[in-house]
Amino acid sequence: MASLAARATQVKMLRRMSCFSTSIASRVLSTRATSYTLNTGAKIPALGFGTFQDHDSQEDTVSLALQKGMRLIDTARVYDVEEQVGRGVKKSGIPRENIFIGTKLWCNDYHPDDVERAVDDSLRDLDTPYVDLLLMHYPCTFKRGPDRFPRDLDGRMVAGETTFLHTWKAMEKVTKTGKVKAIGVSNFSRGEINILINESSTVPAVHQMEVHPYLQQKGFNEWLQARGIHVVQFSPLGNMNDFYRQTGWSKEISHMMRVIDQPILKEIGQKYGKSPVQVVLAWGINSGRSVIPKSVVDWQIEENLAAHFELQPEDMAQIATLDAKARFNDPSLDYEWRLYGDLEGIDGTIRGKTH
Ligand SMILES: NC(=O)c1ccc[n+]([C@@H]2O[C@H](COP(=O)([O-])OP(=O)(O)OC[C@H]3O[C@@H](n4cnc5c(N)ncnc54)[C@H](OP(=O)(O)O)[C@@H]3O)[C@@H](O)[C@H]2O)c1
Repeated sequence: MASLAARATQVKMLRRMSCFSTSIASRVLSTRATSYTLNTGAKIPALGFGTFQDHDSQEDTVSLALQKGMRLIDTARVYDVEEQVGRGVKKSGIPRENIFIGTKLWCNDYHPDDVERAVDDSLRDLDTPYVDLLLMHYPCTFKRGPDRFPRDLDGRMVAGETTFLHTWKAMEKVTKTGKVKAIGVSNFSRGEINILINESSTVPAVHQMEVHPYLQQKGFNEWLQARGIHVVQFSPLGNMNDFYRQTGWSKEISHMMRVIDQPILKEIGQKYGKSPVQVVLAWGINSGRSVIPKSVVDWQIEENLAAHFELQPEDMAQIATLDAKARFNDPSLDYEWRLYGDLEGIDGTIRGKTH
């Protein structure tokens, strides 16, 4: 097993070096500190670091990523890594005020009376007095209580009695305490975001959603941008995460060619002396979005950090042709909630069947 793993790493390294060997000078967008301004006036870095999975590695990788230059850390209550992230931040030695930390409320803590307590739990584990961003992880509400996935005797998820609008209003209140600097959402549809805009006094600062060359969501991205809602792309590398091949969420579609093997991306990468992964991340940044790739491998973290470069319009146009409207993250059936109802990439799942 060990030699297989070593061989895989060697192959990845060789692949990376072959991309670098045809290097031409690529224009750097600015620096690793490239950032956008949220509708709150705060800055959010373009390049960030995801922390879903690999609990045991997160303390060291978060610390390493920060030391190498990452300044945006994305986590969530349900990832069960907030303690590790908090320790990683401390270990890095980077001052807290120089780091943008975002976490997410989980669906069993959506009752308005639970929201501030849930934030306190996250702050305690993250060992920080505030988070820069608090997101609602999904629009669906689960039964309140300690069980994160409350199911009935038939195994079906039990819904909560309040809606995401009630949760949102409770999140608005928490911003007044200083424990949360900005609030936003994740995995919402256009209609669901419209409800927040029309029925509360806060426009979400961020929508964190699945965006990659296989699911570009051009119209929705423009719609969000027009409303001043900054997009953070999750799973920016598409189906690179094996999780999507293992879960039934994303049907057969997750078995399509991995981003790293995509010939168009390889060709573009060779022009700039960059890898396909770097091209994909640069595409997101060149489109005005933040990207939060996850990695626990040192050289991959470095590679991801070197993804700030300007892509020429013809290369952006080439990447646009890869839009297969392939959505990999769709737990609608399990969560008993038709997610993304008015968005692209749910064909074949309209009657609630995701797998
Ligand atoms: N809001 C939501 O509902 C939601 C959903 C999903 C994800 N997220 C957030 O988004 C983050 C990223 O999404 P993700 O983890 O699904 O997918 P991702 O970042 O697109 O892909 C992760 C996979 O790509 C590999 N990888 C990373 N950099 C690489 C490189 N330079 N070369 C080759 N392979 C590379 C990683 O390998 P190794 O693991 O071996 O390092 C891992 O297998 C998550 O960690 C989480 O913070 C949010």
